[in-house]
Amino acid sequence: MRILSGIQPSGTLHIGNFLGMIQPMLQSQEKGELFCFLANMHSLTSVFDPKHLQGYTNEAMLDLLSLGIDPQKSVFWVQSDVPEVTELTWYLNNVTPVGLLERCHSYKDKVAKNLPANNGLFSYPVLMAADILMYQSNVVPVGKDQKQHVEVARDIAIKFNQMYGEAFTIPEPRISDAVAVIPGIDGQKMSKSYGNTIDIFAPENQLKKKVMSIVTDPTPLELPKDPDKSVVFAIYRLFATPEKTADMEQRLRKGGYGYGDAKKELFSVLWDYFLPFRTKREELAGNLDYVAEVRKAGAQKARAAGTPTLDTVRRLVGTAR
Ligand code: ADP
Ligand code: TRP
Repeated sequence: MRILSGIQPSGTLHIGNFLGMIQPMLQSQEKGELFCFLANMHSLTSVFDPKHLQGYTNEAMLDLLSLGIDPQKSVFWVQSDVPEVTELTWYLNNVTPVGLLERCHSYKDKVAKNLPANNGLFSYPVLMAADILMYQSNVVPVGKDQKQHVEVARDIAIKFNQMYGEAFTIPEPRISDAVAVIPGIDGQKMSKSYGNTIDIFAPENQLKKKVMSIVTDPTPLELPKDPDKSVVFAIYRLFATPEKTADMEQRLRKGGYGYGDAKKELFSVLWDYFLPFRTKREELAGNLDYVAEVRKAGAQKARAAGTPTLDTVRRLVGTAR
């Protein structure tokens, strides 16, 4: 079973991304054949500074490799390193009804958030369909917001197969609802667009500052507190051992234990949790030649896996030599 996962390098990864996306992806690396790529051509719909795009891409390479993407087990590459995907996008464009794209919520949402209403943003789902179909993916794990895009890829694949003949595996979205939405330091959903994130690889003083600024209610120190209403506890329980979690829960309920102390414990748990990953990341950052090799080898593997599909499509549509 081939599992395909795409991540836009468009900002710094936070602990919501880690639990909501990266951890499930690492689990699928153990279960099936994982194809994982950095969707930097999709990032072009929102990142217009070339230095930022380069930077986010390089950082995301280091992030994912240090968090556990294993280039021996999985195919890991940067989308633009296999530009053939844009050729496939063009073939797909010509079987994609405009109405199908007009129904996509994501386009309207992004325009409402002031992203420019250009054709790249509008046809974003067609490039995403090409990503999925080029590699004959069976399963695409996505958050709820991306489910419609995988359905568009299915519709396009079915239409193409009917019009021209069998070229594509019909992919299935897999919605992970195992992990709840992680709250940010203000209690809303953690998201880079709300500026309320706790970043995975934040330096010590910055991590401390973020944790210390998590919202709390004004219950005085001596009074009992409801752990279910505490953002500090909601995050703590996701990273602490069951014993430590039960212990903090009890202390909050009992009273005489303040949020300041709870935050210090949360900081310490987060710092320790990501320690091995930080060490790995530092090692990789000191060995960028190796990272460049990994990037190159990943693109080669992805190209080898995708080229047969493209050859079939060229033959079916009539552009093959
Ligand atoms: P952001 O909201 O920070 O822009 P993205 O929309 O780029 O993050 O999300 C990338 C992935 O991370 C998605 O799979 C999404 O489901 C997951 N994710 C993002 N924020 C959270 C969160 N607060 N809790 C759980 N998962 C999240
Ligand atoms: N659109 C996805 C996101 O923003 C990223 C992505 C691009 C993707 N191509 C993909 C995800 C193909 C899965 C499959 O999260």
